[in-house]
Amino acid sequence: MKTYELRSDTFTKPVPAMRQAMADALVGDDVYREDPTVNQLEELAANLTGKEQALFVTSGSMGNLISLFINGGRMAEVLAHAKSHIFHHELASAATIAGVLPIGIDTPRGLLKAQVLEPMIKPVVYDLARTKMIEVENTIGGICYPLSTLKEIYALAKRRSLSVHMDGARIFNASIATGVQVSEIARYADTVTFCLSKGLGAPVGSMLCGSAEFIDKARSVRKMLGGGMRQSGILAAAGIYALHHHVQRLADDHVHAKRLAQALLDTSWARVCLDDVETNIVLFDVDGVEASRACEVFKRYGVLCTTEGTQLRFVTHIDVSNTDIDEVCAIIASIDKKEFDS
Ligand SMILES: Cc1ncc(COP(=O)(O)O)c(C=O)c1O
Repeated sequence: MKTYELRSDTFTKPVPAMRQAMADALVGDDVYREDPTVNQLEELAANLTGKEQALFVTSGSMGNLISLFINGGRMAEVLAHAKSHIFHHELASAATIAGVLPIGIDTPRGLLKAQVLEPMIKPVVYDLARTKMIEVENTIGGICYPLSTLKEIYALAKRRSLSVHMDGARIFNASIATGVQVSEIARYADTVTFCLSKGLGAPVGSMLCGSAEFIDKARSVRKMLGGGMRQSGILAAAGIYALHHHVQRLADDHVHAKRLAQALLDTSWARVCLDDVETNIVLFDVDGVEASRACEVFKRYGVLCTTEGTQLRFVTHIDVSNTDIDEVCAIIASIDKKEFDS
């Protein structure tokens, strides 16, 4: 049976031209900063995000952790959305390694707002933990932050001497969906991570971007965490290829996600908010059916999806073609509500 991999954009495999670029990469020892391909990728990432410098890190989690470690730290709190990746998946590393306590705030559609954040910032008093950072995830659940919201959050942070970190794992999806350049989105954060290994289709790695002073410290923390890599130009070459060839095509993934959402909407059993499908993620419910059970039903048809909280999730990406989407839409249309009950 054919399978349709809609669990995550992390399942993407490097295309042949990307593999060739990896094979051809010039390499050196990056811990000595002598890998020309890593240096090239870091310069490219800094330029794209409009930051002074960038650092190639093993994963999005490592990029976020380094920022939490440097700009958060012991006895500090960081304000984040309750649905954010750092709150759900990185809490233990934030607490035990960075020593910081993420505070989860629940606001509609995953989007934090300055007026909600302001009362959560603790006064500077000897017996209270210091609020040191605001973390925004963009996109979050596939939804893009309006630039005006980011501006207000950043202005609040500066007024209260906090730093802003953007988990921009999918910032390129946000840029393509909104037509706003990545550097303009990143302007409202002091530090930004973005992932090469999700929708951009590279096999490994993320970029952590910020001021020269921050990246200097980040390089030491990366080494301390065991993230100093040697001939990592082989991996960086995939990232460079992705940034040159796989950004504009994200628009196709967004169209595919909308088509899936529409197909769900056309059934008698699914609930989905079409307006919230802004990029490559579709979150939906199957009426009265537990999400994990509904996932099993889709799996019988070869349609692989995951749960996110109480919902189901489809994620579109480079390895899911237009034809695949036609076929999945036909499968969705063919499923009878009774199948979820059996
Ligand atoms: C929004 C977001 N941030 C961070 C990460 C962590 O990235 P990684 O798996 O590379 O550590 C993910 C991974 O799925 C993510 O979705």
